[in-house]
Amino acid sequence: MKNYNEYKKIIDENLIKYIPSIDSKVAILREAMEYSLLAGGKRIRPVLLLASCDFANGNIDEALPYACAIEYIHTYSLIHDDLPAMDNDDLRRGKPTSHKMFGEDIAILTGDALLNTAFEIMMKNIMELHDIDKIRNHIKAIYQITKNSGIYGMIAGQVADVSNLQNKCDDEIIKFINEGKTARLLQASIISGLNLAGADEDIINDFDDYAYQLGVSFQIVDDILDITSTSEELGKTIGKDARDDKTNYVNLHGIAEAKKHLKKSTELGLSAISKYDERADFFRTLLVKLEKRTK
Ligand code: IPE
Ligand code: IPE
Ligand code: MG
Ligand code: MG
Ligand code: MG
Repeated sequence: MKNYNEYKKIIDENLIKYIPSIDSKVAILREAMEYSLLAGGKRIRPVLLLASCDFANGNIDEALPYACAIEYIHTYSLIHDDLPAMDNDDLRRGKPTSHKMFGEDIAILTGDALLNTAFEIMMKNIMELHDIDKIRNHIKAIYQITKNSGIYGMIAGQVADVSNLQNKCDDEIIKFINEGKTARLLQASIISGLNLAGADEDIINDFDDYAYQLGVSFQIVDDILDITSTSEELGKTIGKDARDDKTNYVNLHGIAEAKKHLKKSTELGLSAISKYDERADFFRTLLVKLEKRTK
């Protein structure tokens, strides 16, 4: 197993290599795709995908296209999330948002392009395989990514999130939002990495439980940081949830209660993977650190 920064370096070095050639008449599209992909970001989803594949003794070179594809999907979700019709944000990853740089029309289309390209990358990759068992594993991975970024996952969460106005949310809706908009893509990162390595159902179920806890915690920390951090540190505008009158776990229950919830989630996440040897330490360390992340 490598450490977080080693996996991240692989992603950072390869991410834009997967943008196909684009007609020079629409060079703006490449410019806008590269702008958002290279603006920075923690790369947690592709890192998790590579680490999970590695953990189950898969080949991380073979997992790289899927890892990059998931970061393309995540980046598209951020571009659309920032649009005036959604969260109306000016700052993302420490830079002006896509629509501030390129206009709303191009930002919408750049998000679309990143999503389509993600599927193009994965399908092109699979077409070049010959081994039927491997093809089956890769299709399982694509299915996880498709399902969790779509109408059962990220998009459902975002729909519930934009409908969440004027403090009309209860715990059940907050849970649905956090699971959908954030946890599902993190779960997909881990499960697809395991699928690529051909991991068995037991491992997948344990790591799915772990990933769920990590995902829900990740959004609660995001909501805490929206209150406690600075935009310099976070690279995005802060105080947005209060500005938009959005209910989330943190403003519903308070920061102290949210921190208790995080502690509990961390315990549950750790116990889901307690039977694995020290090769699972990567995941343990990540979960414990996430609880205290500052960006
Ligand atoms: C932000 O995701 C949106 C959420 C789902 C909370 P990240 O915090 O992973 O953003 P980047 O990729 O590091 O910019
Ligand atoms: C966004 O949640 C989740 C997705 C983009 C799917 P937020 O709206 O809380 O994310 P930030 O705070 O803008 O990064
Ligand atoms: Mg949002
Ligand atoms: Mg937002
Ligand atoms: Mg947020």
